[in-house]
Amino acid sequence: MTAASTQPLIAELRRIVGQDYVLTQDDGADLRAWELDWRGRERGKALAVVRPASTQEVAQVVRACAATRTPIIPQGGNTGMVVGSTPDTSGTQVVLSLTRLNKVRQLDAGNMTITVDAGCVLQTLQEECEKAGFLFPLSLASEGSCTIGGNLGTNAGGTQVVRYGNTRELCLGLEVVTAQGEIWDGLLGLRKDNTGYDLRHLFIGSEGTLGIITGATMKIYPMPKSQLTAFAALPSLEAAVQLLGLAHEHLSAGLTGFEVMGQFALSLVNKHFPQQRVPFWQESPWCVVLENSDNESEEHARAQFERLLEAAMEAGCVTDAVIAENLAQAKALWHIRESIPLAQAQEGLNIKHDISINVSRIPAFVAETNALLEQKFPGARLVTYGHLGDGNLHYNVQAPEGVDQKRFLAEQEAPMNAVVYEVVDRYRGSISAEHGIGSLKIDKLPEHKSPVALGLMRNIKRALDPLNLMNPGKLLHTENH
Ligand code: FAD
Ligand code: MLT
Ligand code: ZN
Repeated sequence: MTAASTQPLIAELRRIVGQDYVLTQDDGADLRAWELDWRGRERGKALAVVRPASTQEVAQVVRACAATRTPIIPQGGNTGMVVGSTPDTSGTQVVLSLTRLNKVRQLDAGNMTITVDAGCVLQTLQEECEKAGFLFPLSLASEGSCTIGGNLGTNAGGTQVVRYGNTRELCLGLEVVTAQGEIWDGLLGLRKDNTGYDLRHLFIGSEGTLGIITGATMKIYPMPKSQLTAFAALPSLEAAVQLLGLAHEHLSAGLTGFEVMGQFALSLVNKHFPQQRVPFWQESPWCVVLENSDNESEEHARAQFERLLEAAMEAGCVTDAVIAENLAQAKALWHIRESIPLAQAQEGLNIKHDISINVSRIPAFVAETNALLEQKFPGARLVTYGHLGDGNLHYNVQAPEGVDQKRFLAEQEAPMNAVVYEVVDRYRGSISAEHGIGSLKIDKLPEHKSPVALGLMRNIKRALDPLNLMNPGKLLHTENH
């Protein structure tokens, strides 16, 4: 593809979105922010970055690209973990950035919903709800830059799933620009609607491979009277599972967060963010951060927490614990947990395994897999943490100290993935609990998903995107498309 042959498309895109909102390397624009994935693993080369400001503009852009058979890579905050929102190196793909579609359209207090543009930053959505006295519970460490469109595209999880579910469970309706450039307005906000296939669920978690989400109606909740946080030290992962059971029993629906953190993961936070005071990590192999959201009062929440922690200490599954005295302390305790992926990035390139297993089997899974990795990859440093309440662990690995990280990844990532995923399969778990497949795991998917499921997925892809222009090379190989 030559510059001359793509010139008419670039001109048409500029006509649609305005001169300033089509960026190309030929015009001297620095496209790094759109071409490089968050983890710094791969940099692609875009034909152009296009930044429409409305659903109508998105639809026109898609039609222009479809007419010239130009692949489109939808992108929100580009915080994804699986190289899903960046172009390949061909220089033929258009990055369609949604970040200028950033309006809050309507908060309907009676219906307890908020309708927003897809490029709305998650934190903006949370803040808008808070101003109106509501809670939007989706919460991720990337919330300052990820967008609701990206959250829906990946069906993001985060730290409140134990109570509120994944992004999918929070969504009541979508507006989508199809691969043909039509606009589907499904922003009904209905809690009941059995009029056929639930199309919204096809687009959620499809990683931009079926169409472009331009708007969403999301559920909101009454703001709890109190959101109390505790941080506990534990002797083992078995103890963490036991504590989770006790927390469900004592807090019931009040249990809104249950995150586990291994000692090495916390040591990285201590090393890279020494201003944070990480409790208990030096003497405990595991720590847990818990949240109790209560609709009565802070005193009630505190009394419940105290009873839970007393019971846990009696049972021997908690050795020490602290309950936040105020909001600032609660934020600081959560901040420790949320800093783990950032500390890991500071430590260098790493291998991530975002896996899920039935909660009850997680201790056995970790013991078995740790032993295998220690034997086959001596010195590899295990960074284990995550959403234990959902059976979702970030079972990540950092290269041994002093070893060239790029080389370690190049040589060891594939064999290490094979070892970990073989155990995941035996435990009937998932190789991607919440981050998706992107291009990083696209080759792995066929090894771990049933051929029947893959066949159905390909049929859906062919039906909705017959020209294979929506985020090709991500999620699903589409040979013989
Ligand atoms: P992007 O990265 O831009 O895109 C992600 C995928 O969605 C791509 O396939 C893209 O093509 C597609 N997409 C984006 N916008 C649209 C759209 N409008 N329509 C259709 N497809 C679209 N994830 C979790 O699940 N849980 C966590 O706890 C979590 N914690 C994180 C912590 C940190 C520090 C970081 C950096 C990331 C974390 N993530 C987590 C991963 C990431 O933030 C989420 O996947 C997030 O949902 C991505 O949103 P985004 O706007 O950045 O999407
Ligand atoms: C998290 O829970 O912090 C993340 O999903 C990010 C990561 O995998 O590192
Ligand atoms: Zn996570």
